[in-house]
Amino acid sequence: METRRSFLSRIAMWTSLAVSYGAAAAFTGRFLFPSKPTKRTRSIYVGRFSELKEGESKLVTDLRGVPVQVVRQGSALRALSTVCPHLGCRVRWEAEKQRFFCPCHNGVFNREGEVVSGPPPRGLDRYEVEVVAGNVYLRMPEPSAA
Ligand code: FES
Repeated sequence: METRRSFLSRIAMWTSLAVSYGAAAAFTGRFLFPSKPTKRTRSIYVGRFSELKEGESKLVTDLRGVPVQVVRQGSALRALSTVCPHLGCRVRWEAEKQRFFCPCHNGVFNREGEVVSGPPPRGLDRYEVEVVAGNVYLRMPEPSAA
């Protein structure tokens, strides 16, 4: 017959084992699947949303000194790099044709920054844009975290 003392000893032992194995499993899981470091981002002020003209672009310099074109289309905003993904020339927004154009080798991108014609192998890099209380900001990873 089991005494109260032996019953409590057994409960204590099983509880200790469960806590030990649980802690070991948690440390093993953290070792095998470490959490990803969070990307640090910065906001760059573009201007007041109401001051951005429909269909036109505004140039803003990113954290590396590269101009970024912010284009307003109705209530939507797009921020695209001015660096052509072909050989790095600067593309420009042509409002009358609603396209981005690279003069180096006649690369053409639509207003979403996707390649329409020419040698560029991919579209223009996009930046995240946000509007906070009527102010427009570019959100981008810090250069060291990129
Ligand atoms: Fe832009 Fe070649 S560098 S098309």
